[in-house]
Amino acid sequence: MFAFQLLCALSSAAFLVSASPALRDDCCDTSKAVMNLPANQTALVSPTSAPLFVMLGVGIQNYTCSSTTSTYASIGAVASLFDIACLDQTPEFANIQIKAFDIWSEAAARTTATSIGARVGAPNLLGFHYFVTSPSGTGLSPEWDFTSTGKFADNSTAYVIGAKVGDIPAPTDPTVNVDWLALVNVQGALASKIFRIDTVSGQPPTSCVAGSAPISVKYTAKYYLY
Ligand SMILES: *[C@@H]1O[C@H](CO)[C@@H](O)[C@H](O)[C@H]1NC(C)=O
Ligand SMILES: *[C@@H]1O[C@H](CO)[C@@H](O)[C@H](O)[C@H]1NC(C)=O
Ligand SMILES: *[C@@H]1O[C@H](CO)[C@@H](O)[C@H](O)[C@H]1NC(C)=O
Repeated sequence: MFAFQLLCALSSAAFLVSASPALRDDCCDTSKAVMNLPANQTALVSPTSAPLFVMLGVGIQNYTCSSTTSTYASIGAVASLFDIACLDQTPEFANIQIKAFDIWSEAAARTTATSIGARVGAPNLLGFHYFVTSPSGTGLSPEWDFTSTGKFADNSTAYVIGAKVGDIPAPTDPTVNVDWLALVNVQGALASKIFRIDTVSGQPPTSCVAGSAPISVKYTAKYYLY
């Protein structure tokens, strides 16, 4: 946390010197940010501390068709992560994932997820979410990686690989919107806990024809890192 604040202070100093508008919203205050979780569940429990990062995720969920069950199984996801901490106390915040999804879902095939943030007032790309071989060596694990872009670029520990500890169906349209999740750190220094909430789309069709090709389903969500 101290290092984070220091980095922010350094970025602010850089802002004053270079007057680069790109740095202006680098250090938004997250101290008042609170996740809006359903009351009637215990699987997702908000930490008592303030989040380190509040982000909009824009990307795809990938699925493969199981030939034994003729249903889709998850094989990972790829998403761009935009800083929305600055928008937290604004009227736009509650539905920013819906606005982003509407643009993303209708975007031309060549449009990248990386370009969507700027179109919903969240141009600050903090990093990427994708799947990697699990640190255990077996299976895939989700990663949130800030090492290649944004204010943590070239900081080799600015990532977190997570393991799922909580999972609830999306409170609205759970057959369309992917589950809300809680995960804990298994590797990396970026955060100790990760939450995926306010999901829009991303679920696969309920069944598939055995032998059909893998599919990608566009989605958006909010990610909170603690
Ligand atoms: C997901 O599918 C897209 C193609 O739609 C591909 O580019 C990407 O590498 C896939 N990622 C994973 C993790 O499966
Ligand atoms: C919990 O509340 C949500 C609405 O917030 C509702 O959709 C869901 O059915 C409820 N679940 C249970 C188990 O009561
Ligand atoms: C690198 O990133 C990690 C995780 O965000 C952070 O704890 C650390 O302070 C950063 N180091 C520097 C030199 O900024």
